[in-house]
Amino acid sequence: MKHLTFIAMEGIDGSGKTTVSRKLKSLLTEKGYKVFLTEEPTGSLKVDPVLAEKRDAESAYKLLMSFTEDRIKHSRIIKEKLDAGEIVISDRYFLSSAAYQGVLLKDLYSSNTELLNFLLTLSSPIEAWPDIVILLDIDPDLSLERIKARSDISKFEDSRYLKKVRDFYLALSEILSSRVPRYNVQSGSDHDTVRPFWNNLKKIEIIDSSIRRKYLLSRCVSAVEDML
Ligand code: TYD
Repeated sequence: MKHLTFIAMEGIDGSGKTTVSRKLKSLLTEKGYKVFLTEEPTGSLKVDPVLAEKRDAESAYKLLMSFTEDRIKHSRIIKEKLDAGEIVISDRYFLSSAAYQGVLLKDLYSSNTELLNFLLTLSSPIEAWPDIVILLDIDPDLSLERIKARSDISKFEDSRYLKKVRDFYLALSEILSSRVPRYNVQSGSDHDTVRPFWNNLKKIEIIDSSIRRKYLLSRCVSAVEDML
């Protein structure tokens, strides 16, 4: 019997999320599951290219607001699919904002946990949270080579920034993983606990995305298989 399963695929640009998400959908469909594949930013969000190029906190806050608003609407569609018994795979979700915008905001907070709590509070209208996050981890030098081969470099993709985003993805995953399945609700302090909004998160799987595609895919399948 399947219980609700919402898979969020995360990683820096060129980490292979989109290819892996599509393959994962085909594999799960072959196994008889109904799968809804979706992505962020959604088609209805037009990201301001000038803001996307900037690396300051004010621009990051503006982008964060746009991505979060987009996600709140997106989460309603996702919730409908989950309620209808479908598996949902989202190519990017909350952790994209936390990593890409969060890395530009973190110095304004006393700790990464405090930042994470701010981001989660901002996101409280979100109606669906992932059961599992798969983080495809890759060295930005390699991911940029892959992107250059596709020749569709976007404003978000510069090597220094992507290195910081990658490190921040890993740092945030560590904080969240240490709270799965139980975060420290006893202490009650915002500074050392992650608020329990994300209460259905069961696993954050970090997968080295520089390995060959077929191994990468089988690692992703085994990460979700025991949750289906
Ligand atoms: P994406 O569509 O994954 O990139 P691509 O155009 O290569 O398929 O995402 C577009 C960019 O938006 C990507 O560089 C990451 C960025 N982004 C954020 O900075 N914050 C967010 O919350 C999201 C969803 C995306």
